[in-house]
Amino acid sequence: MKVLVIGANGKTGRRVVETLKAGSHEPLALIRSPAQKDSFDAMGVPTVLGDLEYPIDHAVRGCDAVIFAAGSGSKTGKDKTVLVDHVGAIRSMVTAAVNGARRYVMLSSFRADVASESPIKHYHRAKGAADDFLRSIHEVLPEPLDWTIICPGGLTEDAGSGRVAVSLQTAQEPDGSSKTSRDNLAAALAACLDEPATVGKTFTLFEGETPLREALRSL
Ligand SMILES: NC(=O)c1ccc[n+]([C@@H]2O[C@H](COP(=O)([O-])OP(=O)(O)OC[C@H]3O[C@@H](n4cnc5c(N)ncnc54)[C@H](OP(=O)(O)O)[C@@H]3O)[C@@H](O)[C@H]2O)c1
Repeated sequence: MKVLVIGANGKTGRRVVETLKAGSHEPLALIRSPAQKDSFDAMGVPTVLGDLEYPIDHAVRGCDAVIFAAGSGSKTGKDKTVLVDHVGAIRSMVTAAVNGARRYVMLSSFRADVASESPIKHYHRAKGAADDFLRSIHEVLPEPLDWTIICPGGLTEDAGSGRVAVSLQTAQEPDGSSKTSRDNLAAALAACLDEPATVGKTFTLFEGETPLREALRSL
């Protein structure tokens, strides 16, 4: 599959691109600045310029799938949380659907919820609203979208163990670790493309004991 990676220049997005490139899929890296192009050129990965605050149809056209690994980050204002994590994410979903990129994998967050009262509720509410839209996109658009939503815990730079804990009970506190390595997360985002059991599922992903593929197949 040709896969548009949104947020390709980010810490998780780069790992997603590398994972796809090493496997059987063909990544296309969505970047915001021409200065970010060189490192992808060096990997032999094509890039396309785009920004979630504006239309990205040109980037999605011709792709079979989209992996959303972008985020406004904690250093920007709450306006960007709405514009990128909420509205921008929904823009990418609609764009994927109408342009025939049927498979869509969303990097969300543990505690994403439109009714969040967490210390970063503006963020959790934005992610929750985008996730709710994705889960009900079939109610507003005729184009089919095979979606998956992964909700990781606190992201770490730990080396990927390849072993995780997944759960469809997304509101439930994890039994073990509340952390997720970006390595394991990127591997999961990419692996979902080849695991039909993940279509139409929202699940938490933490560090754990189950081999990643086995965990995804169990969903
Ligand atoms: N940190 C955590 O503990 C945690 C926990 C759960 C979930 N998450 C989610 O995981 C996401 C990825 O984490 P990360 O650490 O990999 O993030 P990151 O390194 O900050 O990467 C975010 C990427 O999003 C891109 N981006 C920002 N605004 C954009 C826009 N308007 N249009 C297109 N791209 C845009 C950035 O582009 P530039 O490179 O150009 O800046 C960057 O490449 C977070 O954003 C968050 O939603 C994080």
